[in-house]
Amino acid sequence: MIKIFPQFEEDLLIRLFHKGVKAQWTVSDVEWEQPLMMQDDQARALAHMLTPVYLGEQSAMIGASVVLPQMAMAGETTSQIYLSSFLMDEARHFEVLTQLYRRLEEDPLNIRQMPAMLRYHNRLRKGDRIDWVWGILISDVFAKNFYQIFSRSQPEALFGSLSGRILQDESRHQAFAEHYLKRAVPTLEPERLKDLVKMKDDLLGTMDNMYEHLLDDAKRLNIDGRKFLDDLRAEIEHKADRIGLSDNRHDDGENSMKRVFQGIGDGVKTATQDLSSKFQALKASNCDTCFVALLCRTRLVTTARCV
Ligand SMILES: [Fe+2]
Ligand SMILES: [Fe+2]
Repeated sequence: MIKIFPQFEEDLLIRLFHKGVKAQWTVSDVEWEQPLMMQDDQARALAHMLTPVYLGEQSAMIGASVVLPQMAMAGETTSQIYLSSFLMDEARHFEVLTQLYRRLEEDPLNIRQMPAMLRYHNRLRKGDRIDWVWGILISDVFAKNFYQIFSRSQPEALFGSLSGRILQDESRHQAFAEHYLKRAVPTLEPERLKDLVKMKDDLLGTMDNMYEHLLDDAKRLNIDGRKFLDDLRAEIEHKADRIGLSDNRHDDGENSMKRVFQGIGDGVKTATQDLSSKFQALKASNCDTCFVALLCRTRLVTTARCV
């Protein structure tokens, strides 16, 4: 897995890594004394609506640590290097949102209050690193759209300015995921492509379900929850199309998929066959039903019983 002096080109992923390294910031750079510019009931609504994004930040951090060795096994050197900065970004978002909850003086929802969150993250952990990158892209688009609402409408407020910082990181994450998938997708068999399309549909369906529980909170923040979800779906479908994962491309007769990119492609197959353990590293021996057993031990989840 570890190679001394691997050969690698200075590609987009290395450029994204350099950008990420130069753009680092910490919780202490945030101006916490900035006004919230919201009423108490709106602060509570934000705490609720932010919960899936908050869990997503932590989940992305843990997931990156699981797929990084898979990329190493497949010889994807520049992806490994890039992912190190991704992991640092997500850790920072996780930390900073934890601090935000303290400032809001509110708690996130727990899994018992919104069980669909667990279904969503359970779906994210299935499969290999390509599934993970695809799921992370969908989650990042979701997070980006959420942060954008506040960054555009309240740039002088605490969460609005914080959202602006996080969005810069998220734009690199999306660039990575699209680039990675555009190279990997042409190498996959039609059945595998169908699974990825299904994954998108599952995740979008679960998102709908999650936010049906949050429509009142959305209203309190003057957010049109239905429009948010419809726009999100349209954007993800558009990305799916650009990547080569639109629904209508993958009928059974599609055996003519081009396999022009060998670098990632060969590694993808190898790793898919060899790394059957995939996300199993995250599974605790006494936790069979939860996504990321590690998440089950967090404060967010411990109020719901993980068996
Ligand atoms: Fe993030
Ligand atoms: Fe992200």
